[in-house]
Amino acid sequence: MKTVVAYYSHGGKTKAVAQGVALELQCGTEEIRLKKIHGKKPGAVDMMQKRKKGQLPAIYHESLNLNKQRTIILGGPIWGGTVAAPVFSLINHTDWKNKTVAIFVTAALFGTSKALAKLKKELESRGATITGQKAFFSSFRNPKTLKTAGARWAKTLKNTK
Ligand SMILES: Cc1cc2nc3c(=O)[nH]c(=O)nc-3n(C[C@H](O)[C@H](O)[C@H](O)COP(=O)(O)O)c2cc1C
Repeated sequence: MKTVVAYYSHGGKTKAVAQGVALELQCGTEEIRLKKIHGKKPGAVDMMQKRKKGQLPAIYHESLNLNKQRTIILGGPIWGGTVAAPVFSLINHTDWKNKTVAIFVTAALFGTSKALAKLKKELESRGATITGQKAFFSSFRNPKTLKTAGARWAKTLKNTK
């Protein structure tokens, strides 16, 4: 079955988890990349504030091609108690009907349960079935540790693929 790990990562922590998941599931990764505005990528705080006004950042969704995938592992960092805006940009550009999705977030400290619940609800309302969810705390963890943690979680997903 076709599986991919799609993620957004601003500082590399979520990317490390995503790489661990992909390694364990022996599948590819797709990074959500931001489009530049006036030659500059938008900053995290700026995106967080715009999100509150209902504005989502532009991403290179054309090249992601998630519509052919049956199973998507979707992850992103927590920003201000919710999943980072670029993940929601991706959600808007993907057809989630009949897809099996496992979701994960990385965070320094707080907001993970509510953020995961919101993300789950959003995807389910678009027709996806959520088969797993996980929060990874990233403070003081190096990429190698996060990659291992991602791989460990992915093991638990194998039965649901
Ligand atoms: C703008 C911004 C807002 C954040 N808000 C939260 C938050 O509400 N709760 C939290 O625990 N961590 C928060 N963090 C920390 C990140 O969620 C955490 O460091 C995450 O692992 C970063 O992932 P990345 O390196 O893949 O971007 C925030 C980070 C940024 C840049």
